[in-house]
Amino acid sequence: MTTKQLEVDVIPLTQSFIFKTRVGKAIVNPVNQYLDEMLADENAKSHAHKLVGQITRGKQLEISLKEDRITPLINIIQSLGLNYYDYFYKRTEDTSQPKKVAHVYTMWSVHSYAGDYNPLHDHGAQTLQGLSGSLYTKIPPAIQESSNDLDLRNASGNQNGYLQFVYGDSPVIGPSMFKIPQNMAVRPVVGDLYLWPSWLEHMVYPFDGEGERRSIAFNISFHKPGEEKSIRSNDFLFDH
Ligand SMILES: [Fe+2]
Repeated sequence: MTTKQLEVDVIPLTQSFIFKTRVGKAIVNPVNQYLDEMLADENAKSHAHKLVGQITRGKQLEISLKEDRITPLINIIQSLGLNYYDYFYKRTEDTSQPKKVAHVYTMWSVHSYAGDYNPLHDHGAQTLQGLSGSLYTKIPPAIQESSNDLDLRNASGNQNGYLQFVYGDSPVIGPSMFKIPQNMAVRPVVGDLYLWPSWLEHMVYPFDGEGERRSIAFNISFHKPGEEKSIRSNDFLFDH
C-alpha cells in the first residue's frame, strides 16, 4: 500500500484459521443411509452424555468408526487434518515438527429439530494438537432458504440454525473503534465440511420450522505413526 509519500506495510494480526470444503453425494448419501438406520434402531447408542448440545427433540448418536459407510468420510477428514497440520506449520515457519498421522478418534451425529440448540463450547482433544469439525448432511428448508444477509436487527431470524465461531470479543460498536469483529456465522449447507482447532469456541443457534438439521461432528488427534493405537476413545469423558 502507498500513501502520498510513504510505503506502508499492513501487518495483519491473525489468530487462527478454519478449513472449509464440500463433499459430494457419494459421501453424504451412505452416511445418511447409515444414520437413518441408527435413528430407527432403539438400541443405537446415545452420545448425549459426552455433549453439551441441548438437543431435546432430536438425538445425538455415537457413530461407529468401523462402519463401512463412514470409512470414506474418515479418510477424507484424516487427509484434510494432515493438510491442516502441514499448512499450519508452513504458515508459522516452524520446521521442527515431526511427521504425524491424523486420527479421527470419535464421531457422533446431531439430529436437531425446531428449538434444539448447542450453547457456546469447545471440544476435547486426545493430544495438544487437536482438530474438530462438522459435516452437514441434511438441512431443513427454513435454514436452506435463509437470506445471505446476516443482519440480526428487527428480529430478522437471519442466523437461525447457523454455526457461529467466537474467537475474541466483538462489541457491537467495534467497527466504530477500529475493532474487527472476532466471530463468524456460517450457514450450514449439505456437504459442507468445516475443520477447526479443537479449542475454538462455537455454538449453534436454534431454528424454527419443519424438518431435521443433521450434522456429523468429530475430533482428530495427531500422533507419531503407530502411537494412535495405544489410546482408546473411551478414556475421554467429554467430546463436547
Ligand atoms: Fe461443537
